Formats: sequence, structure tokens, C-alpha cells
Amino acid sequence: MKAHVNGIDLAFLDQGQGMPIVFVHAFPLSKAMWNPQAEGLASAFRTITVDLRGHGESDAPLWYYSMEQFADDLVGLMDHLGLGRAVFVGLSMGGYILFALYRKHPDLIKALVLADTRAQPDTPEGRAGRFAMAQTVHREGLEAVAALMLPKLLCPASLKSRPDLVQTVTRLITANQVSGIAGDLMGMALRPDSTPLLEHIRCPTLVIVGEEDVATPPDDARLMVYQIPSARLQVIPSAGHLSNLEQPEAFTAAIQSFLKTL
Ligand code: MLT
Repeated sequence: MKAHVNGIDLAFLDQGQGMPIVFVHAFPLSKAMWNPQAEGLASAFRTITVDLRGHGESDAPLWYYSMEQFADDLVGLMDHLGLGRAVFVGLSMGGYILFALYRKHPDLIKALVLADTRAQPDTPEGRAGRFAMAQTVHREGLEAVAALMLPKLLCPASLKSRPDLVQTVTRLITANQVSGIAGDLMGMALRPDSTPLLEHIRCPTLVIVGEEDVATPPDDARLMVYQIPSARLQVIPSAGHLSNLEQPEAFTAAIQSFLKTL
């Protein structure tokens, strides 16, 4: 399914019926990373996954992608689908985008799941790393990005003993376009500090983190939980940054029990 939003085509999947849950994927992946959760929850909820601009089957215009632009695209998709409010689940870059969405449209958010993400902006070293990766993707392509990202995305045990998962994540990364990956890197490097927002987040919030996440470690998750008034924390054992793919049942169960409290 495609929606024409903000001048581009966005690909999305809309499954099931009931309370809408919108899933926002990580860098440098696509909506398919949410298949276990979207399919698992579609018997009781309306689950919507979207390829953000620059990813999967969506258009990838050559530009920088600010977190606000991604948030505007989500609003455009909600308009297209006639959604009023939804639960939003964002992992990593997906979480950065949900902070931007909350800043602009708190009224659209019934509840938040912030997974393997952080509120802090990039450090100067982090920004330099984005610049270097943009040059890598420009010169060497998506396979080189996959090789750089895999050790940040999956925990050592998954890298060693789950070739199927390594292959799936590699396939999702390499199915993107160079312009999209560069657009993400520029947008993430320029994203604002979201820590001042945390104390103003009023909706029910679940923070999830893989116990072995090195990209956005459990301390980043704790910082969000301490500052968001109604947040609670779920640590997923034996998982790194892509905790929803490494431990799909535990991740889905955490969302399910959170949704019961709404
Ligand atoms: C992600 O998973 O979205 C990225 O690791 C986020 C980042 O690089 O900051």
C-alpha cells in the first residue's frame, strides 16, 4: 500500500482492527523489521508499519531528512488513513522521530513505546561518525554500511549463532537507497536535544531496552524513565540494539502488557 504524503510516496502496511498502533523503524532498516510485532498484535489491534522516506519501498529524495520531516510524514500518513490518535512504537531513530512528533502534536499520541533509543543529541564525535558513514555509503554502497552497522545492531551471541537474523538484517539494510541513508545520517546529526522534553511527556510511556544494547545502552533508557513522569522500564535479556528482532516474543509481550494498562 502507498500513500502520497508531503510530495512523495510512502509505503505502509495496515493490518487488523482496533486501537491503532503505528510502528516507526530504526536506521538503516525498514518497516519489515516490525513484522514479528505487527503480525503478532494484528489479531487484537490495528497495526500500521511504514517505510520512512528514504527506506524500503518509499521514495528516497536526495535531501537531509530532519526528524521533524519524518514526523510530518507520519502525520500525513495518519491523515491518509483517517486516524485520530494512536499508540506509537519507535525504535532508535524511530524514537528520535517520536520526540519530534510529541513536540509538534502531543494530541495525536495516546501512548508511547520508546525502544532502544535516547533523548540526547549527537556528541561531536557522534556527528563526525555520521559524516564518515555518509562518505562510506556514497563511495562504497549499502553493503559497507551493513558491515559497519551489524555489530552495533545485534548482540555478540546473535552475530555468532543466528546467521538467519544476520542475513535478514543485512537484506533490510541493503534494500534501501544510498540517498535515503545519507538523508538519515544528516538528519540525525542535526537533531535537537530531546532531554528538555522528557518531563513534559504526559502520555503513558513504556521504555524498552536490550540488556546488551551498545548503541543506546540501558543507562540512556534509565535517563528517560527517570524524567518522563509516567514511564516504566522493560529490560530485554539476551538482546542488543534490535531487541524486537533478537527477542521478538519478549518484546511483543512487553507491548501487550503495556497496552492492557491503557
Ligand atoms: C538506529 O538504530 O536507528 C540508529 O542506531 C540510531 C543512531 O545511529 O543514532
